[in-house]
Amino acid sequence: MTKNNSLKEDNKVFSPNTQVIESANIKDWDKEIHKGKDIEKYWSMEAEQLDWFKKWDTILDTSEEPFYKWFVGGKINLAYNAVDRWIETGKRNKIAILYANELGDEIKLSYFELYREVNKMANALLNLGIKKGDSVSLYLPMCPELVITMLACTKIGAIHSAIYSGLSSSAVAERVNNIESKVVVTADGTYRRGKVIPLKPIVDEAIEDCPTVENVVVVNHTGKYDGDEELKENEILYDKFLEGVEDSCEAENTDAEDPLFVLYTSGSTGKPKGVLHTTGGYMVGIATTLRNIFDIHDDDLWWSTADAGWITGHSYTIYAPLLLGSTTLIFEGAPDYPDPGIWWKVIEKYGVTKFYTAPTAVRHLMRYGDEYIGKYNLDSIKVLGSVGEPINYEAWKWMYDKIGNGKAPIMDTWWQTETGMHMISPLPVAGLKPGSATKPLPGVHVAVVDEEGDPVGVGKRGYLTIAKPWPSMLRGLFNDDKRYKEEYWNTFPGLFKTGDMAKIDDDGYVWIQGRSDDVLKISGHRIGAVEVEEAFNSHPAVNETAVIGKEDPVKGQIIKSFLILNEGYDLDKPYEEGDEFPLLNTLKLHVRHTLGPVAVLGETVSVDSLPKTKSGKIMRRILKAKEEGEDLGDTSTLDDL
Ligand code: PRX
Repeated sequence: MTKNNSLKEDNKVFSPNTQVIESANIKDWDKEIHKGKDIEKYWSMEAEQLDWFKKWDTILDTSEEPFYKWFVGGKINLAYNAVDRWIETGKRNKIAILYANELGDEIKLSYFELYREVNKMANALLNLGIKKGDSVSLYLPMCPELVITMLACTKIGAIHSAIYSGLSSSAVAERVNNIESKVVVTADGTYRRGKVIPLKPIVDEAIEDCPTVENVVVVNHTGKYDGDEELKENEILYDKFLEGVEDSCEAENTDAEDPLFVLYTSGSTGKPKGVLHTTGGYMVGIATTLRNIFDIHDDDLWWSTADAGWITGHSYTIYAPLLLGSTTLIFEGAPDYPDPGIWWKVIEKYGVTKFYTAPTAVRHLMRYGDEYIGKYNLDSIKVLGSVGEPINYEAWKWMYDKIGNGKAPIMDTWWQTETGMHMISPLPVAGLKPGSATKPLPGVHVAVVDEEGDPVGVGKRGYLTIAKPWPSMLRGLFNDDKRYKEEYWNTFPGLFKTGDMAKIDDDGYVWIQGRSDDVLKISGHRIGAVEVEEAFNSHPAVNETAVIGKEDPVKGQIIKSFLILNEGYDLDKPYEEGDEFPLLNTLKLHVRHTLGPVAVLGETVSVDSLPKTKSGKIMRRILKAKEEGEDLGDTSTLDDL
C-alpha cells in the first residue's frame, strides 16, 4: 500500500490499528478498488443487497449520454427498503431515529414506530390528492417529522424538495415555484441557542408568491399552537393532519429511474440549480459507501451532524443509515450551546460509535482547547468522518487526537450535492495522509485534466472530473436539460466537471485544491458569489458588487464584498436620514433578508472601481489574488477567462 515512516510530521501516513482492521467490512483496500474497475459488475453486485420488487433488465444505459440511466427496468421503493423490510427481519424494536436537542429533550422511534408514522403521513398526503410524481416542499428543522415526511414522500413516489431552514422567504418561494409544489410542510419554529427561531412566518411570506401551493402542514414543534385557531383555512397542524389516518400503506412500485428528490444548490450563475436524484442508483450508492467507509455494523450508533437541508443530511444523516438498518442520531441545535461541550456530552451520553462532521465545526470547537472535550469520555468512537471542505492539518490532528483518542481513523470524504454519494474517500483500513481525501472509491473513476481535458499527470494541479458514470449521479437539473449539459458536460466532453481543482500524488492520493469557479464554501455551506452580488445589487444604494471567498482560519472562507456605491452614499453613514445605523448595517440586513441567515457577511468594503475583462466581466480572481497577497503576474492574460 502506501509508504510509511521517514515522512515529516505533516506528511506522515497514519496507519489503522489492529482493532479497526479486525472489525472492517472491507479488509483489503486495493483489492476492493480493483473490483470496482468494472463499474457495471461492481455496482450490480452492491445493488443485490437491496430489496427489489423487480430486478433490473439493464445495469447501465449510456444510449442518451450524458443522461445516464442505472438499473433500468428495476422496481424498488426507498421507504420500503429503509423501514418496512426491517420490521420483518428482527429489527422491529431497534431504534431507527434518536432525536436529541440542545434542551436535553430526546425522542426515540423504533423501526416499527417509524413504519407506522411514515404510513400515516403517506396516507394523509394521498388523502390530500398528492400522487406519484407530484412534489412536496419541506421547510423544517431537524426533527422526527422531517424524516417521516421525507420517507412518506418516497413511499408514495412523490418528489420531495427539502429547503434548508436557514434560507430566506424569497429563497423558499423561488424553490417552491421552480418545482411547483402543491403542499409545503413546515413547523412553527426551531430551537437555536436558547431561542425559538420562527419558521412559519417565512413560509407565510414565501407562499404569497407561490400560486401552486394549495395546502400547508405545520408541525407544532416548539409548541406555539394551542389549537388551530391561528391557522388559515388551507393550513393544518401536523398532528391533526394525521388524526384517524390508517397506519398501513402499501409502498408505491417505483421505477429505479423515478425521481426521488430535488435539492437546490448554488452554482456559478445566479439562480440555484435544482439537482435531481432518482431512486434505485441513488440508494445503491449511498448504502454501499456508508457501509464500507464507516464500517457500519448492527450495534453502531451513527451521528452525522449535517442538517437535512443539505445533501449530507439527505444521503447520510437520514437515508443511508436507515437503508442499512442502523440507528441514526439527529440533533437540533448549535454545536456550542448551552456550552461548547454539548456535542461531546451527546457522544458520551448515547455512546456514539461513528461521528461525521465538517472541518469548520471542528476548528470552531478546538478553539476551546481541552476545557470542554476533556470532561467527557469519547471512548465509544470507532470511526470519524469529515465532509464539505478541505480539512487542514491542525483540525485533522485535533479531531484524531481528541475526538478519536488517537485510535479512530478519519474518513475525509469528498463529494457533492451532484454526486449524491461519497466519491473520494479512504476506507477504515487505508493509510491516511491528513488533508487528502485519499483515493477514488471502488467503482468511482476520476481524472484530473488540463483545459483541453487531457490528464495533467502526477503532482500537477488540474480540473477534477469524473470519468465514468456512477449510480447515484444526478440525473439532471430539474426541468433544465440545457443547463445540465452546459454546467457539467460541455467543458470536457465525456467527463463530468466537478468545479473543483485537484492534484494526485505519486501514491495515487487526491488532494483537493478548492473550487475553480465562483462557488464559495462558508462554514461548509455552499453559496454562489453571484447570488451574494445580486443581493447587494438589489439595494438602491449599490451600483455594482464583486464577491470573493477569502481564506479564514475557522470558517474556511468568509465572504468578502467589494461594493461600488451609488453617488452620495457612504458605508459609514446612514442610508436615509433618521436611520439609526450606518449603511453597512442596512446592507448586511438586506442581504440577510434576501438570502437568509446562511449568508454571513465577513468583510464589506467600498471601492471606486472593479477589475474587469474587456467584455466587462468582473475578474474576481484578481481581487482574490490581491487579497491573498499573491503575485498577479501578467494580468492581461487573465482577460476573458
Ligand atoms: O468544493 C468541494 C467541497 O464541497 C463541494 C460540494 O459542496 P456541496 O454540494 O454543498 O456538498 C457538500 C457535502 C458533500 C465540493 O465541490 N468539498 C466537499 N467535501 C470535501 C470538499 N472539499 C475538500 N474536501 C472534502 N472532503
